[in-house]
Amino acid sequence: MMRTKIKDIYKCPEALAGKNITVAGWARFVRAGGEVGFIELNDGSFFSNLQLVLESKNIDNYAAVASQNVGASFVAGGEIVMTPGLKQPFEMRVSEIEVEGASAPDYPLQKKRHSPEFLREIAHLRPRTNLYSAVFRIRSEAAYAVHTFFNGQNFVYVNTPIITASDCEGAGDMFKVTVLENFADFTKDFFGKKAFLTVSGQLNLECFALAFGNVYTFGPTFRAEASNTQRHAAEFWMIEPEMAFADLNDDMELARGCLVFVTGHILRHCAEELEFLNKFVEPGLTERLLKITESKFGHITYTEAIELLSGCGQTFEYPAKWGMDIQTEHERHLSEKVFGGPVFVTDYPAEIKSFYMRQNDDGRTVAAMDLLVPGVGELIGGSQREERYDRLTEALRLKNMKEEDYRWYLDLRKYGGTKHAGFGIGFERLVMYLTGVSNIRDVCAFPRTFGKAEF
Ligand code: 4AD
Ligand code: MG
Repeated sequence: MMRTKIKDIYKCPEALAGKNITVAGWARFVRAGGEVGFIELNDGSFFSNLQLVLESKNIDNYAAVASQNVGASFVAGGEIVMTPGLKQPFEMRVSEIEVEGASAPDYPLQKKRHSPEFLREIAHLRPRTNLYSAVFRIRSEAAYAVHTFFNGQNFVYVNTPIITASDCEGAGDMFKVTVLENFADFTKDFFGKKAFLTVSGQLNLECFALAFGNVYTFGPTFRAEASNTQRHAAEFWMIEPEMAFADLNDDMELARGCLVFVTGHILRHCAEELEFLNKFVEPGLTERLLKITESKFGHITYTEAIELLSGCGQTFEYPAKWGMDIQTEHERHLSEKVFGGPVFVTDYPAEIKSFYMRQNDDGRTVAAMDLLVPGVGELIGGSQREERYDRLTEALRLKNMKEEDYRWYLDLRKYGGTKHAGFGIGFERLVMYLTGVSNIRDVCAFPRTFGKAEF
């Protein structure tokens, strides 16, 4: 079927005026009292609807169409007519129309605006609302932009495994993958040993970085963290580049370049979506995004950040002390109040970071970097990797991890090891950042969070 997208009509209605076209979509509104009926049709390509005008004398099945409920799907053909002076700039005078699928009268999306909480309960229908229409088009464009960015820089795209036997972050918050009914003996399990859903593709990616130079992966990751916050999901997507012959400064430069590129792409390609989000979700969103592409990112070391936080006069629920993890309230203070934009925090205490991060000469910090951004907090986590064999075995020992489990990872340091670095961007957090949406549940198609996995 040749059908015209409603977005294309809005782009240039004059070009289609007087022409007969076919459209297909779902009714957002139906009014059909007497001889003339109106249907506001939305086809998911645009926020605005196309008004269909139906005259009973021209349409054989008028009665059947006029009795339809909101949510019903239609295929309609007719002429586009300019309507200067009316509320909508043009409409379609329908000559034929089919009801594809009727909708029951209890269709839950009757009102113009529903709360995100209500919409989360109907995750199978919420894609038909304007908010999700904006968020998921931006999500799709952002994924495209990520691939375009890395491809443009000659990074090789690698699909790292989803089922793994290694714990990359060493935090122990992994989902088990098993076919056993009882967990007595994992040697009898499918893989002959314990297996998990991956928390990060990094360790596998390092093998490829030390062969291809620059690589990246972009795929689903899983964390069994019992954190019920607005920015934690149990299943989320991560973008992870890894570069051989690169240090922490190269890593930060790449992270900044990637974020600026993706933001620029969204500003150029999603103007209508941003306009909608500016109006209904975050006033000032577009200016905030423009600022990212134009200004420098802040940089502060962890030690400086702790000094700043403990001396700034603000009372925090968790007073800042050297050695502690930077809390959400601290992240927000740094990125929102002190820097007013993205800020890299580097050189964290070794004790609170993963085993693979490169140890600094001071003997107590590692070459780690987190990028904190207003509204979201930690958007990116990365580091230069420990390339020295002895230092790495020592770190494994200190973290109570078994050397034999990481033999292959240590081999990378034994055979032509290089300085190398990489990072991970939480894709949902990136979408939150690009849309102003404050809850991760509203940027996942079907969110999996602590205590919740519907559909
Ligand atoms: O800081 P993280 O744990 O770093 C890693 O996993 C590294 N192995 C990445 C690397 O260097 N290749 O996670 C990276 C990012 C975080 O900054 C955050 O944006 C996101 O992943 N993230 C989550 N997003 C949603 N829900 C969760 N539970 C998340 N945990 C991490
Ligand atoms: Mg992190």
